[in-house]
Amino acid sequence: MLTDFRSYAALTWRPAARISVLYGPNGTGKTNLLEALSLIVPGRGLRGARNADLPRLDGPGGWAVAGRFQTPEGETIIGTGCEPGSDRRVFRLDGAAPRNQADISRIIAAVWLTPQMDRLFQEGLSGRRRFLDRLVWALEPGHAREMASHDTAVGSRNRLLAEGRQDRAWLSGLEDSIARHAVAASAARLGLVTRLNAQIAAGAGAFPPGRIGLACPIAERLQTEPALAVEDWLRDGLAANRPRDSAAGTSLLGAHRTDMRLTDAGTGTPAALASTGQQKALLIGVILAHAALIASARGFAPLLLLDEPAVHLDAERRRALWDVLMALSAQTVITGTDADIFLPLADHAEALATGSGGLHPDGRFLRPETDTAPVPTAL
Ligand SMILES: Nc1ncnc2c1ncn2[C@@H]1O[C@H](COP(=O)(O)OP(=O)(O)O)[C@@H](O)[C@H]1O
Ligand SMILES: [Mg+2]
Repeated sequence: MLTDFRSYAALTWRPAARISVLYGPNGTGKTNLLEALSLIVPGRGLRGARNADLPRLDGPGGWAVAGRFQTPEGETIIGTGCEPGSDRRVFRLDGAAPRNQADISRIIAAVWLTPQMDRLFQEGLSGRRRFLDRLVWALEPGHAREMASHDTAVGSRNRLLAEGRQDRAWLSGLEDSIARHAVAASAARLGLVTRLNAQIAAGAGAFPPGRIGLACPIAERLQTEPALAVEDWLRDGLAANRPRDSAAGTSLLGAHRTDMRLTDAGTGTPAALASTGQQKALLIGVILAHAALIASARGFAPLLLLDEPAVHLDAERRRALWDVLMALSAQTVITGTDADIFLPLADHAEALATGSGGLHPDGRFLRPETDTAPVPTAL
């Protein structure tokens, strides 16, 4: 259920199948709906939007998204939104305020692919780091807090150094905090990368086998040294780097410097050198393996949100994508401009045309009355 969310004044939708296709011309609200779903999970959603951009422009100023989901703790209504006049986003679990956001990320996860990711390997490392951390977060919800604490400590140390204050005790305390959070976060990233690479390698081979690597001295050391030794090394390095970091205006050591690499393990080609279509295929392979990894590791499938995944894919890869989606257990929403390319999914998916702030079923696909498929996670 959406209320005053972007282009939607009010929308109630109950998926009739495990796979939903949203199709329609540009600007008809496909990505808006995926974004609404992505916001059910704490975080800034698949557009990384500011809260102020979410209320419908001609609406009263607030917005809400809520849905009924099958979770490991039973059927639960999860809602999020913002009251008119307020800038504070709140969550609701079965109508009550949760103790904290972890109560929600413990029972639901979402994984997404967006057209913006087509440029992931052409643009700066911050986008890749966010991508990597979201993958980790979906597997280990505590990772978000670890990174937030780390980044806060890095920011405080940067400010202290910029002010030229030689408060050694304070700096040491911050560096200790950075070292502990950076090692914990890097260990979580390393764990995700190891498991995800194994999951990709074990995959069906419909997509090029991506291999993720971390460009990060902390993760590198963690592979051969105990965590406490890496913390000591990092703490000493930060202390020794004070003059250099002060001059650079930033901290040259820490979990915020990590980059992610993706290589086609079959050909050895780095994603950055692959064609747009090859990159897309590599990324789709990563995302699908990630969804499968979450399902097996956490015991429940994530919401899988694929915004225009077929763009840049050749016909054979499209077909492979549909095959994989039909075999997954995740509640999946896919978008595209044209319904016809999704027709191979017609016996397994519902299709809804977007437009006029609503959804309009396509008779060639599954309809609510005829569908008997279980709906593990439904809005
Ligand atoms: N806060 C908002 N209020 C009203 N309309 C919005 C808001 N934010 C975006 N839109 C409109 O939503 C449309 C884009 O919808 P989107 O879901 O991105 O389209 P697409 O179907 O191409 O994915 C645009 O026409 C844009 O003007
Ligand atoms: Mg869109």
